Amino acid sequence: MTYAPVPSRSLPPADATGATVTPLPSQPPRPIPFVDLPAQQARIRPQIDAAIAKVLDHGRYVMGPEVAELESRLAAYCGAKHVISCSNGTDALALALMARGVRPGDAVFVPSFTFAASPEVVCWFGATPVFVDVELDTFNMAPDSLETAIATAKAQGLIPRCVIPVDLFGQPADYAAIDRIARAHGLWTLADAAQSFGAGYGDRMVGTLGDISTTSFYPAKPLGAYGDGGAIFTDSDEDAALLRSLRDHGHGDTRYDYVRIGMNGRLDTLQAAILMEKLAIFPDEVERRQAVAARYSAELPAGIAVPKVVASASSVWAQYTIRIGGGHRNALAATLGELGVPTVQYYPKPLHQQAPYAGALLPEGGLPNTDRLAHEVLSLPIHAYLDDDLQTYIIGAIARAVHALS
Ligand SMILES: Cc1ncc(COP(=O)(O)O)c(C=O)c1O
Repeated sequence: MTYAPVPSRSLPPADATGATVTPLPSQPPRPIPFVDLPAQQARIRPQIDAAIAKVLDHGRYVMGPEVAELESRLAAYCGAKHVISCSNGTDALALALMARGVRPGDAVFVPSFTFAASPEVVCWFGATPVFVDVELDTFNMAPDSLETAIATAKAQGLIPRCVIPVDLFGQPADYAAIDRIARAHGLWTLADAAQSFGAGYGDRMVGTLGDISTTSFYPAKPLGAYGDGGAIFTDSDEDAALLRSLRDHGHGDTRYDYVRIGMNGRLDTLQAAILMEKLAIFPDEVERRQAVAARYSAELPAGIAVPKVVASASSVWAQYTIRIGGGHRNALAATLGELGVPTVQYYPKPLHQQAPYAGALLPEGGLPNTDRLAHEVLSLPIHAYLDDDLQTYIIGAIARAVHALS
């Protein structure tokens, strides 16, 4: 299957210094979607229709053959020994904590600069989230802050149990450094790869970076279903067997034989069928996202801090998130909105500042980078179908908006 080539640029690139800005129209040539799911659907609609029809024909809507087939394709793609599909990325995290018996008195180390699901599940099991700061340039967990957070948790009489390095915006966290600290303190790693499935770290792929890794197939994710979905990855036979049982009410070897308390965390057959069609074009989509990100990084004007990808890693660019300091973020977002460029603040209020997480612990010294990022971040449109001329317009609009700020 080939996809029509992207049209060539109709507007010149912005001046990288931001000093002289090429005049641009005040509105884009056509509306700019933040994420373009319809374009992806148009590309593979016949395959999706056929995959759905096949499920309707066989009628095994729950745990049909597509579920196991998707699991083996995901395993082959990322190199994990076991893949257990499930209902969504939140349940994937919860199942992992359930499998490892996380309980009250346990400390689980997790960034505050993330989506709510990452610490939320920790609270489900009565354990204490201990928030860890992130790096300013990668947005991912800062190893030094993890060390401090472990000391804080111990001083409070908690048992350090697990670390959840979140691969924010599509780039794997610094697993080499985090693993070293985790091993030294007897922690296991639960890689929240909801945003990073498809990315790499050294010679390994996401899905193999934590003792257990999880992802989300929420529709807007780089690999998204047409509804909720998720997956859990592990190389441990023991964890995999436990996770399969927990995902389906704690079943034993025979039907209606239960050996533990579990949940209904199954993935629908229809979503599995749809995901297999999306997985077929996923490597090409990842490349396209990376090309869009590379162009942003090369052409965005001075005054904008572009995200850093560490040398040994790749990102799938779930988000392309810039930073602008000096209290200018909201003004930049407003000007871009007037110019027809949609942006989103991921995340405007860190979780440690929100009421449900008042009982969480913070490391000594707090979370200065997290507090700062909440005022500086702005995510730009990125997806595999962002045409060159629209990206030219976006870059030009940013140059114009930054120029107006100075
Ligand atoms: C970092 C992170 N973790 C977990 C989740 C939860 O995934 P889901 O929405 O599939 O439950 C998300 C979803 O946005 C996420 O971004």
